Amino acid sequence: MSWNATVLTLFPGMFPGPLGTSLAGRAMERGLWSLEARDIRDAATDRHRTVDDTPFGGGAGMVLRPDVVDAAIAAAVPEGDARPLVFLTPRGVPLRQSLVRQLAAGPGVVALCGRYEGVDQRVVEARGMIEVSIGDYVLSGGELAAMVLLDACVRLIPGVMGAAESAEEESFSSNLLEYPHYTRPAEWRGLRVPEVLLSGHHAEVARWRRERSEAVTRERRPDLLTEQGRPGSTAGAPLHPAASPA
Ligand code: ADE
Repeated sequence: MSWNATVLTLFPGMFPGPLGTSLAGRAMERGLWSLEARDIRDAATDRHRTVDDTPFGGGAGMVLRPDVVDAAIAAAVPEGDARPLVFLTPRGVPLRQSLVRQLAAGPGVVALCGRYEGVDQRVVEARGMIEVSIGDYVLSGGELAAMVLLDACVRLIPGVMGAAESAEEESFSSNLLEYPHYTRPAEWRGLRVPEVLLSGHHAEVARWRRERSEAVTRERRPDLLTEQGRPGSTAGAPLHPAASPA
C-alpha cells in the first residue's frame, strides 16, 4: 500500500519539481509514494475559466471562489477517501515534526495551494481543512510550502530511508536540535575534532552529544524546550478527520 499525495494548484507544472529527484524521487520510482498535481482551473465552469473574485469588504488582491475550490476537491478526492486535506497558508498552524509524523503514518495527503490573497474561508471550514504554515514569512503561493510538507513526510514513509539515513537521532525527534557532526580529517586547518569523538567511548560520546544538543537548543530555540505548552502547538494532538461539505 503506497502513500498518495494529491496537490490542488493553479500551477501543476511546478510538480513534481524537486520531489522528482533525490530521496523522494527514488522512492516515487520504487512505488513507495505517488504524486498527482491537479489544476484547480479545470474545475471552473465559465468560458474564461475564472477561479477567483474580489474580496467582500474590499481590499487588495483576489480570493479563490469556494464553489470552484470545492468542485476541484470533489473531482480529485473519491468518496470515502480518508486522506486529510491540508491547506497551505501563512495563517495556518506552524508545521512541526509531530504533524509530519502523523501525516506520514496515514494514507497520504490532499494539499490545497493558495494563490492571490487566499481562499474563501467557507470551503476551508466546510471541508474540514487543516490550515498549515511552513514558517513566519509569506511565499507567493502554497506550492513551495506543499513541496516542503511532502518532502518532510515522504522521507518518513517506511522503506524510503535506509539505515544510513536513519531519522532516529535527528533534530526534533526528541524536541532537541541535533548535535554537530564531524568526519575526517581529524585535524583540518589546525582545527581538531572534539577529542571525545575519537575516544571510542560510546557512553561518553552519547553524553557529549546530548549535552551539545541541549546547549544548542537552549541558545537557538528555547521555545522547543517548552513545546507542549505552546499555543497552536500540534504536538501530540490527533489529526481531526475531514468533515464533509455542509
Ligand atoms: N503560502 C504563502 N506563504 C506560506 C507559508 N509561509 N506557509 C504555507 N503556505 C504559504
